[in-house]
Amino acid sequence: MTSSASTPVRLAINGYGRIGRCFLRALHESPWREHYRVVAINEPADLASIAYLTRFDSTHGRFPGKVETTDTGLIIDGEPVTVTHAESPEAVDWAAMNLDVVIECSGRYGRRIELERFLKAGAPRVLLSHPGHSAEDVDATVVYGINQDALTGAERIVSNASCTTNAAVPVLTVVDEAFGLEHALLTTLHSVMNDQPLIDGYHHTDLRRTRSAMQSIIPVSTGLARGIERLLPALAGRVTAKAIRVPTHNVSAIDIALTTRREMSVDTLNAVLREAAESRFPGLLAWSDDPHASIDFNHDPHSAIVDTSQTRASGAHLASTLLWFDNEWGFASRMVDTLHHWQARRAHPHTATTSD
Ligand SMILES: NC(=O)c1ccc[n+]([C@@H]2O[C@H](COP(=O)([O-])OP(=O)(O)OC[C@H]3O[C@@H](n4cnc5c(N)ncnc54)[C@H](OP(=O)(O)O)[C@@H]3O)[C@@H](O)[C@H]2O)c1
Repeated sequence: MTSSASTPVRLAINGYGRIGRCFLRALHESPWREHYRVVAINEPADLASIAYLTRFDSTHGRFPGKVETTDTGLIIDGEPVTVTHAESPEAVDWAAMNLDVVIECSGRYGRRIELERFLKAGAPRVLLSHPGHSAEDVDATVVYGINQDALTGAERIVSNASCTTNAAVPVLTVVDEAFGLEHALLTTLHSVMNDQPLIDGYHHTDLRRTRSAMQSIIPVSTGLARGIERLLPALAGRVTAKAIRVPTHNVSAIDIALTTRREMSVDTLNAVLREAAESRFPGLLAWSDDPHASIDFNHDPHSAIVDTSQTRASGAHLASTLLWFDNEWGFASRMVDTLHHWQARRAHPHTATTSD
């Protein structure tokens, strides 16, 4: 660690929407919370709404701490948090906050030239809640459990990839190792997000996002295949994905259809996935054969849960499996893991580290 509990790592959250607020809560619930302090939040919304939505959350329940409001921000469990309302990185004096990392959760900045605006405005490092526009736009893209050990500690801009990439990559990795993955076709069934209207309304770049989120199953574009190839370049050209928004408020699923070079069956595929969940990715991947509905995984911190009751095979080389994941809480929990590992790398840049 680069800090002790007496000198916590200083964080600011830029964009305090679903993921920004989940990050704050996931950090609050993490075993490492004493090592970190959120000292600032930058979010265009007004302070009263920011305080209110910190205290009350329709999806994850009440905040398990004390939230007070001052003239300049919040006090969360006795710790002051400066709140600003800027819509550009330059409009915030990050340097004056003596920060270590900006947690970028607005989703508005994906190109290096845009992300460097935070650095030029005095933020030493940035952790993104979304993939960079291209791999080269960030210094590293991390799917925790897969490649966090590639962090050196010298990076200034790190992406935590996407919630779907975090869910799919561990499973594709173990299937490839066990059976030799030939092709994969992924269909994401994703809960609604704040980029959709509650009832029909205008959207200026995507006709489908003009449609009421709560009335329809809506296909949308996705960068998941690109995101997977970024992490697993050996699969380039062999992965395809589509995404469908469904009218649930949280928790999503991915149906993965895959073909393999070596023979597999429902039993052998499930055995490999169960073994990976229990031994290789504890806390990140889980499995269950209970008769689930998506809400069962609300506030579940895993990157994915394999529903082994839904694994199917057609012949010996074609199968599909179903993953559940809390697209908000699982992802925010991985942001905390990645942040903690990145900090550990800065303290011990030349040694292999674990996250605790
Ligand atoms: N939700 C998920 O399940 C999920 C999972 C993984 C990753 N992500 C990614 O995380 C990012 C945020 O998603 P979200 O669901 O949290 O969206 P969200 O709820 O809309 O939150 C984004 C927040 O950022 C604010 N904002 C907009 N422009 C800003 C700026 N220039 N500076 C500071 N704040 C600004 C927005 O304010 P306005 O509403 O006024 O614009 C909003 O409050 C996206 O890139 C998304 O793809 C989301």
